[in-house]
Amino acid sequence: MIKIFRLKNIISVKDFEREDIEYILNEASKLENIAKSKETSEELKGKILGLMFFEPSTRTRMSFETSMKRLNGECIGFENSKSSSVSKGESIADTAKMIEGYSDALVIRHELEGVSKFISDIVEVPVINAGDGAGQHPTQTLLDLYTIKNEIGFIDDLKIALIGDLKFGRTVHSLAYALGLFNNVKIYLVSPPELEMPQEVLHDLDKTNVKYEKVDSIEKIIDDINVLYVTRIQKERFGDINDYLKIKGAYIINRKMLEGKDLIVMHPLPRIDEIDTDVDNTKYNKYFTQAENAVPVRMAILKTLIKNNPK
Ligand code: NCD
Repeated sequence: MIKIFRLKNIISVKDFEREDIEYILNEASKLENIAKSKETSEELKGKILGLMFFEPSTRTRMSFETSMKRLNGECIGFENSKSSSVSKGESIADTAKMIEGYSDALVIRHELEGVSKFISDIVEVPVINAGDGAGQHPTQTLLDLYTIKNEIGFIDDLKIALIGDLKFGRTVHSLAYALGLFNNVKIYLVSPPELEMPQEVLHDLDKTNVKYEKVDSIEKIIDDINVLYVTRIQKERFGDINDYLKIKGAYIINRKMLEGKDLIVMHPLPRIDEIDTDVDNTKYNKYFTQAENAVPVRMAILKTLIKNNPK
């Protein structure tokens, strides 16, 4: 039996218990009909979501907006710091407190780790972390798990390879923490040496049931995995562009590598060149389905947080 969702804010996957994840995935599947048939429901009628996006976003921002609108709520906010008064020198704290006055929940994306947590400490409404620098991206993880559950059928016993920028990629940090809550999961970590999974995350994984292994090539593990989770090299987080140029294109997945394999390919997107477009029209491609799944999952998140925490 899935209990009530305990959290007021969604800041870090480290705050989750397995039941919290299962609660949201279950709610999302109940909302999938509305999301996919492009209908609406009245669940959040009259409610307003405040979007504070200091860093670029397409899918995350648009899927939060779509999710709110499908539940008959509305959105306000800004999509880059230039169009907010932060560019005039206003503090993030003042901006957040002001938008809190207008809305029932806040969604925040910022280039600095810890900003959503900071804001959640100073406002009363629920706060959702939509990506904080190289930190975490917990709502992406929920939609990743939803996709895995729908496409593979299980999360316990999963064998997954995380590929690409494991150092700066916040989606893989969050996903690794979440998989630590399931049983008998095996994670293969495939990255250039410069972009390995942070020691802190590995240290935390050591305390879970997850087994992980660093490998230097995809070929070694491709026959043993259910999911190939590919990530973009996070160019914007490199201090020196030459370091990025040296690593760029380190791992590229193409159709030929996948032929005859029993796995799915996921990617939080945007894709640069990590997955050849010849994979797009194959059964392996689940990255666009994954992006579509953002809507039922974020509908579930918004409905749960806003209804559990009325203003
Ligand atoms: C990711 C992000 O912003 O962390 N994108 C997303 O939200 N789907 C991945 C990325 O930017 O590479």
